[in-house]
Parts: sequence; C-alpha cells; structure tokens
Amino acid sequence: MKIEDIRRVLILGAGTMGQQIAFLCAMHGYEVVLYDISAEILEKAMRRIGKLGTWFVSMGKLTQEQSGAILQRISPTDDPAQAAQDIDIVSESVPEDPMLKGAVFAQFNELCPERTIFTTNTSTLVPSMFAKDTGRPEKFVALHFHDVRISNVVDVMPHPGAAQEVVSLVHDFARSIGQIVIMLKKENNGYVFNTMLSSLFFSALTLASRNVASIEDVDRSWMGIMHTPIGPFGIMDQVGLSTVWSITSYWAQKTGDPQAKANADFIKQYVDKGSLGFKTKQGFYSYPNPTYAEPGFLSGE
Ligand SMILES: NC(=O)c1ccc[n+]([C@@H]2O[C@H](COP(=O)([O-])OP(=O)(O)OC[C@H]3O[C@@H](n4cnc5c(N)ncnc54)[C@H](O)[C@@H]3O)[C@@H](O)[C@H]2O)c1
Repeated sequence: MKIEDIRRVLILGAGTMGQQIAFLCAMHGYEVVLYDISAEILEKAMRRIGKLGTWFVSMGKLTQEQSGAILQRISPTDDPAQAAQDIDIVSESVPEDPMLKGAVFAQFNELCPERTIFTTNTSTLVPSMFAKDTGRPEKFVALHFHDVRISNVVDVMPHPGAAQEVVSLVHDFARSIGQIVIMLKKENNGYVFNTMLSSLFFSALTLASRNVASIEDVDRSWMGIMHTPIGPFGIMDQVGLSTVWSITSYWAQKTGDPQAKANADFIKQYVDKGSLGFKTKQGFYSYPNPTYAEPGFLSGE
C-alpha cells in the first residue's frame, strides 16, 4: 500500500483522544469512521468534536464552512462490522487497559480487510504487547498523539515484528495529517517527549520531596533559565496530579526505587485532598490565576 491508497480511517474509541484524532484526520481530507460501544457515547463525542471545530474556528485556523465540512466527513457507528468496512488504517484509542486493547484488536482483525494497517495510541504500554492480538503483527505499530490543540508532534514506535514498509507508511500518513513525526528506532518503555518529561518530573519531585527547594523555586529555576512560561510543577498541574501519581507509583512499584516511592507519596498528599491540578482549580498552584503566571514571580517579589 502507498500513502495515496489510504482514504478511510477507523478510530476505535470516541473519548478525549479519539475525538481529536478523528477531527484531525477529517481536517486533512480523510473519510473517518468513529467507533465506540454505544450510540449515547457517540452522540456526546460528536457534540464534543463540534466544539473542537468551533475552537479551531475561534483560533482562526479554520472557517465555519470548513469546520462544517470536516464534521460531515466523520461517520459515527456502534456497529463493529459496519465500522470495519473498506478501512485502510485504524487508530485505536480505547482505555489504557492491556486486556481490553488486545480484545478490541482481535475483534477488528476479524472484521477489517487484510490490507488494513493497525495503530495504537497507547501512552504507557508497548506495541509488542498486542502484536499477536492484531493477527497482523507486521502491519501494526504505535502512532502516539499529543493534545492536538497544543501540539502537532506524534511518535511512531515499531515493535520487533513490524514491517519496515508499514513503519514508513505510518510515517507518511502522520505527515499527511500535518504532524511532526518522531521516529523511534525501536520499541522503548516511553516515547521521546514523555521520557524526557518524566525525568524532569522525577528530578523536580525529588528536590521538593527531600525539601531541598520549594515548589516555586524549582519552577522559578526552570522558567528563568529556559525562558518558558511554566515550570515542571505547573506542567504537572496541567497534566493532572492523579495521572502523574499513577505513573509515578507504577514505576515506584516496578523498580522498587525508594526515591520514586517518596515522590509518589509526595504527590499522593495532594491527590488525597482532591487537589488534582488545573481541572479542580487547585494543585501545586491555585487556578485560574497561578502565582507562576504573575509578573513578579521570577524575581520572587
Ligand atoms: N488523554 C490523553 O491526554 C492521551 C494522550 C495520548 C494518548 N492517550 C491514550 O489514548 C487512549 C485513550 O485515552 P483517552 O484519554 O481518549 O480515553 P477516554 O477514556 O477519554 O476514551 C476511551 C473511549 O474508549 C471507549 N471504549 C471502551 N471500550 C471500548 C471498546 N471495547 N471498543 C471501542 N471503544 C471502547 C470508551 O467508551 C471511551 O469513549 C489511551 O490508551 C491513552 O493512554 C491519551
């Protein structure tokens, strides 16, 4: 298959990421089928995709007419057989549960044409965990998106059984939907940006949990030298502290590293109070006006 042969994209899972990826593919002219397990979920998803279109219009990136035409290219369905018809590439965004992802791939392997390429948007799992379930390991790679409103960077991660032509084709597909493509040369526990970000989080949390420096001074140091509007603790608030805690505590258990455990316990104090970051208006900082965004923050005034 060549990039010109890809016309129909199937998105599995119409949640946060499925909605964004569906919109992005339709925005770049693909026919998109959006599959989820119920009509109610799909109705809600289509409403949210409509809002995403409105956001693109408000940012001056699309006109109202273009946004309307994009929505017309997305067909929601809760019928798996119908969803799989004549599909060239699949982008899976069901919840981060290895058993569920494996079952969904096995189900769609039975239904999709033989030529169909499968990709997963998993954040923390690796593609070889599901390669067998897809029934087409050579046609399967991870194609991992970030929030499409703030970035256009994706990672392509192969597993040892992936065919090189398929890896190249997925690269070309990602370029065709306007993405900067980061190619991992091999399977790795973590994508490129996420790996760097977790090291930054680990260092920031270690400094604060050992009481070496305050949360504000850790952020002040990063922001003052890197000239960024936000530091590591501010970023953790944006990601959500329950997510940061689950990842930190998962690695603490897996590695047995006492510092990772101390870092997880440090975040847990906030999670237990319901301070989950930006989304609950309280995390390491208070929102909507966090102190790090105030004019005197860097000078410590
Ligand atoms: N949220 C993020 O910022 C982000 C970023 C990159 C990658 N990811 C990854 O993307 C995937 C999805 O994350 P999300 O945040 O969109 O999750 P979500 O919970 O918002 O959406 C998941 C969707 O999958 C649906 N689903 C459940 N079972 C299904 C099945 N059997 N068949 C089809 N659909 C089913 C759910 O109904 C739901 O609509 C995860 O693997 C996550 O790790 C998330």
